[in-house]
Amino acid sequence: MSEPKKVSRRQFLNYTLTGLGGFMAAGMMAPMVRFAIDPVFKPSAAGEFTSVADVEELTNEPQRFEWEIEQVDGWYESKVQKSAWVYRNEDDEIVALSPVCTHLGCTVDWASNEEYPNQFFCPCHAGRYTKDGVNIPGTPPTAPLPVYESKVEEGMLYLGQEIAR
Ligand code: FES
Repeated sequence: MSEPKKVSRRQFLNYTLTGLGGFMAAGMMAPMVRFAIDPVFKPSAAGEFTSVADVEELTNEPQRFEWEIEQVDGWYESKVQKSAWVYRNEDDEIVALSPVCTHLGCTVDWASNEEYPNQFFCPCHAGRYTKDGVNIPGTPPTAPLPVYESKVEEGMLYLGQEIAR
């Protein structure tokens, strides 16, 4: 039977200090590595363009698309669900409207009210908007639906920030 190997005081200190040094180096390197590779894994931040739909999917009928953005508020990071009503107008331009009612912030639906089949309808207080998102006088909303900044790259629709009108 072999005797257990004894560790000298010098070896013990060497192992301990090497381990501690490695641990501290890893602690310092982690934020640098994260900074370098973070953009690859991160969902789009507020204000950035996000790929939302294949342009082939778009028709003259508004369709709702959803995506997520990362919002940073001080030290607090959270994911925020976004959505848009998107269609092609008569000039074949892509229109992307915010679904957030400008009255009190409910979500508007396309053609959900039988009486107004070609309008956006807000179920909260019967707010209505024309297809291009303009509020209909005499209904509660006093401003049009915001539009999203948009661009098309390699057949994909990208949406950015909402712009109030
Ligand atoms: S919140 Fe849309 S009409 Fe009031």
